[in-house]
Amino acid sequence: MKIGILVPMAEEIGLYQAELSAVSTETIAQIEFTIGLYQGAELVLAQSGIGKVQAAITATMLFDHFDVDMIINSGSAAGVAPNLAIGELVLSDRLVYHDVDVTRGGNYELGQIPGHGLYFKADQNVLKIVSATAEKLGLKTINGLIATGDQFVADPNRVAAIKQEFSGVAAVEMEGAAVAQVAASFGKPFLIIRAISDNGDDSATVNFDEFVVQAGKNAAHLLLTALPAL
Ligand code: ADE
Repeated sequence: MKIGILVPMAEEIGLYQAELSAVSTETIAQIEFTIGLYQGAELVLAQSGIGKVQAAITATMLFDHFDVDMIINSGSAAGVAPNLAIGELVLSDRLVYHDVDVTRGGNYELGQIPGHGLYFKADQNVLKIVSATAEKLGLKTINGLIATGDQFVADPNRVAAIKQEFSGVAAVEMEGAAVAQVAASFGKPFLIIRAISDNGDDSATVNFDEFVVQAGKNAAHLLLTALPAL
């Protein structure tokens, strides 16, 4: 089993770089891929950059060029579920785009990409393993809906609109659904693991800057602990 780990930002990738023994690196489309070993397993770690297109390029390369069997995306997110504090985790049960609208003409739902369903479902077995690992570590996690869009959300009105349009959203970020769409297109499993850095409100920018590194570490720590069981 070869696993691709997709991390958007340099601030979120530190723990992996510390824990992996790097074997080689390759840069494609300005994205750095590190082939490494962790507890005997072969991993491909990629710093995708921010947003849906960066995530899609990276996920496509991981499947098609590096031939990974599954992608796990870890990083930070805005927490929008009640009782979700900074540092706590959201695991993707499923994902949706909050910035897609092809509703004109009446054929597609808000958030739906033509040719795909509205929601992208994560691999339920991988979700179960990572969720059980979090419980063993005593980490608070929610298994829920993650909404993705090309926006850093820092406005309570935008958070309210996303929650109203997509009921049950637990976290908002900028890459997960794109990774999910690529995985669905390749027919491969995926999971998104996000730790909360902010709440998408007026304090989001300040909180994100302060907590993004810790959030990245929390998500990476959970994945690295769960990896041997995957
Ligand atoms: N990732 C972390 N915080 C975020 C926010 N407020 N909006 C979008 N993506 C994020």
